[in-house]
Amino acid sequence: MLVMTIESSCDETSAALIRDGRQILSNAVATQIPVHRRYGGVVPELASRNHIRDIHTVIDEALQEADLQLCDIDGFGVTSGPGLVGSLLVGIETAKALAYTLDRPCVGLNHLEGHLTAILLDFDESPPPEFPYLGLIVSGGHTDLYIVHGLGEYQLLGRTRDDASGEAFDKVAKMLGLPYPGGVAIDRLSTDGDPTAIDFPRPMWTRKNLDFSFSGLKTAVALHLEEAGLPEGQDLYDLCASFQEAVVDVLVMKAIAACKQNDLSRVVLSGGVACNRRLRQKARAACLEENFQYFVAPPRLCTDNAAMLGPIAEFYLATGDEIDKTGLSIRAQSNKPLGMSQRPPSSHHR
Ligand code: KG4
Ligand code: ZN
Repeated sequence: MLVMTIESSCDETSAALIRDGRQILSNAVATQIPVHRRYGGVVPELASRNHIRDIHTVIDEALQEADLQLCDIDGFGVTSGPGLVGSLLVGIETAKALAYTLDRPCVGLNHLEGHLTAILLDFDESPPPEFPYLGLIVSGGHTDLYIVHGLGEYQLLGRTRDDASGEAFDKVAKMLGLPYPGGVAIDRLSTDGDPTAIDFPRPMWTRKNLDFSFSGLKTAVALHLEEAGLPEGQDLYDLCASFQEAVVDVLVMKAIAACKQNDLSRVVLSGGVACNRRLRQKARAACLEENFQYFVAPPRLCTDNAAMLGPIAEFYLATGDEIDKTGLSIRAQSNKPLGMSQRPPSSHHR
């Protein structure tokens, strides 16, 4: 099946063409980072207006890159939540209009499910993970640990009780006067820093509880800045590296603990923070030590993009869990976790 997927939940407008839920024929992404940078974060009203401006361009780009036409498409999948309401609406209404005009099915998809299963796409020679695997979603809005039993079957093990890890990166970067998105800036500056320079707390440092908390760490950085002033040069690099190390240590420790407690041996990182080089390095090393398999997609498939919706779009379209084209609406604003009944039970395991 040839599926067009559309993603517009936050500040990236994206359209992709995916064959059989695996093969990425194209993945066009228009980022709004320069638009929001001057405000230090995403401005929802500006985001929706820019989605309207960019959505047709990315759809055209996706078709051109794949050398295909709209009439070749067998079905559509679009992020229907969670995300910014005005932003989601642009993707949803566009997908519905295309599906209606072409008389093709259209399915609304969960953004988090997209992140969790992007690893099933074909992006290099190595085979994708088998089920079940431990999925760690680390993004601007979420920090969640799931067991992925199969497509549509997820079991939440732990999540952040306050800030998401990406949010912590962004807020700390803002305090330091670094540009949005803060995670990218902190990652870059940390390369020249000493991660042991400042002993920041590792919040919820317990293997028993798989929840996270990052707001206390953010406060610890704020207190440090109150005492020591705004750092420059080497001091800035050291602070970035020390903060990053605290976040990474907690993420890796909990991911490994989650595997041990649930008899899992495959770890999959996803979401924007999974681009972080230190996180990739430490997660890989920890998995090697435990004899676990470690998986992470290339950065372009970790940050928001439409291709990541390919595996679930194919799955839900193929299993007939189609949503009425005219009724498809914004789902979850929510923090509602993904569950075991994302879909009706059937034999869908790979
Ligand atoms: O998944 P994503 O693109 O959007 C959401 O669904 O939220 O994630 C965006 C988040 C931002 O908080 C950004 O600062 C963070 O991912 N991020 C990073 C890095 N690249 C992006 N955080 C740490 N290190 C990075 N290299
Ligand atoms: Zn995301």
